[in-house]
Amino acid sequence: MAFATVVRDGALVPNGMPRFEGFGDAELAALRQYIRRNDADWHMRTAQNPIRQ
Ligand code: HEM
Repeated sequence: MAFATVVRDGALVPNGMPRFEGFGDAELAALRQYIRRNDADWHMRTAQNPIRQ
């Protein structure tokens, strides 16, 4: 999973993003869902929502 590669494996360490190697698969999945939920909420609140006129 690209998300795990960045967050757990530290793919972006050279660019300044720290790695969080303590996260298990379930925690990573929950974190990703949390971020996706937040993003969906943001889209619903703003003009970025394509179904809101
Ligand atoms: C658990 C918390 C975090 C998560 C889930 C997370 C997740 C991510 C993800 C998915 C990306 C890639 C975004 C993309 O390519 O479009 C990213 C990029 C980045 N993150 Fe994090 N991040 C976290 C915490 C942090 C912290 C604490 C820092 C800094 C102290 C940080 C610094 C960065 C930087 C600088 C980038 C851009 C690297 C680049 O442009 O190559 N992140 N992060």
